[in-house]
Amino acid sequence: MIVAPKIRGFICTTAHPDGCAKHIADQIAVVKGRGPIENGPKKVLVIGASTGYGLASRIATAFGSGAATIGVFFEKPGDKRRTATAGWYNSVAFEKEAQAAGLYAKSFNGDAFSDEMKTQVCQAIKDDLGQVDCVVYSLASPRRTHPKTGETFRSVLKPIGESYTNKNLDTTTGVVNEITIEPAEGDEPAQTIAVMGGEDWQMWIDTLLEQNLIAPGATTLAYSYIGPEITWPIYTKGTIGGAKEDLERVQRLLDEKLAPLDGKAWVSVNKALVTQASSAIPVVPLYISLLYKVMKDAGNHEDCIEQMDRLFRDRLANRNPQPDENGRIRVDDWEMLPEIQQTVMDAWKKVTTENLPELGDLADYQASFLRLFGFGIDGVDYDADTDTAVKVPSIS
Ligand code: NAI
Repeated sequence: MIVAPKIRGFICTTAHPDGCAKHIADQIAVVKGRGPIENGPKKVLVIGASTGYGLASRIATAFGSGAATIGVFFEKPGDKRRTATAGWYNSVAFEKEAQAAGLYAKSFNGDAFSDEMKTQVCQAIKDDLGQVDCVVYSLASPRRTHPKTGETFRSVLKPIGESYTNKNLDTTTGVVNEITIEPAEGDEPAQTIAVMGGEDWQMWIDTLLEQNLIAPGATTLAYSYIGPEITWPIYTKGTIGGAKEDLERVQRLLDEKLAPLDGKAWVSVNKALVTQASSAIPVVPLYISLLYKVMKDAGNHEDCIEQMDRLFRDRLANRNPQPDENGRIRVDDWEMLPEIQQTVMDAWKKVTTENLPELGDLADYQASFLRLFGFGIDGVDYDADTDTAVKVPSIS
């Protein structure tokens, strides 16, 4: 089948298998180009391993420190007439590359929030790895069915208390307009915490600990975002921010639980980047398109893979986490540099549809978005017939 992008709002409903494979190869090349990560983890479980930060964590640990990896994700396989989701093709390519490099890699496609998934993954760790020395928790999901009560919760991206009006970018048309988002109602903040907060992370670590599957000295990580004040009403102080606060509560709890094993739980605050999850947040894409330009001009722009390489290489393996006053690792440090923020905020005040091409980088935003789905990647023949039904080797 010849595959072209089909964009619907902030998602692309097709993905290109060869493009995703090349995207994976490019990310592996970044990590390898920086040399081996000495003292990195060797047996890694990544929950949310198929796209964005989780995928980059899997690549950085596998190809940086030679880790065996188990990846959990929720993706749709393709068939002869319909493409798979990008995360599926990413995982096909990741496993093939891992196999070729002699690295163990196993993947599980299904609901990470369920007890069944935890049982299957624990069995694989028991059978194949014995224990894990790193657990990355990188889920971004709009809903969660609670494994004990069966109740389904939905997360919302809304301010709390009062409505929020700010500039916004229609990433398809390039129009800069204004958006007003009404505040969360009723139990929406609590529902968002139930989906994106720390309860499930804790359930994973508790289950692994109960079964003695966590190695001495192990690390567990979950990811958060803070960003500039202009986005706080919709992010840090909004419903999602409440969930991230809960993640930090669980981090402190897990830190205590892992202490007897000499282990450590971390929340790493990462940079704002174009991913499937972030493109769904109002206001943030405009900020990202300005930020990308400013950071590229300053020569300190990073994508997911550079961020995760820096996290595992410079902060964790080097034993130099540089925690902030709340005990969080900050690989958003370059994004938050005062000079970067000042330039972005100056642009924010001035930006309109007309001057966006000059102040920001819409073309780059759109290209980064398409790359998530395997499109617009150098060296890929998009006119060629491609097999859309490819399988993840470890998933029959
Ligand atoms: P993403 O959308 O690229 O990846 C989400 C992953 O979760 C995918 O592997 C997906 O298959 C998996 N997933 C979703 N629901 C699942 C389920 N029920 N069962 C199993 N797997 C499931 O998201 P992204 O952006 O990489 O986000 C990951 C984490 O990083 C989130 O906690 C997010 O808040 C955080 N973060 C993201 C930033 C950004 O700018 N994108 C910035 C800082 C933190």
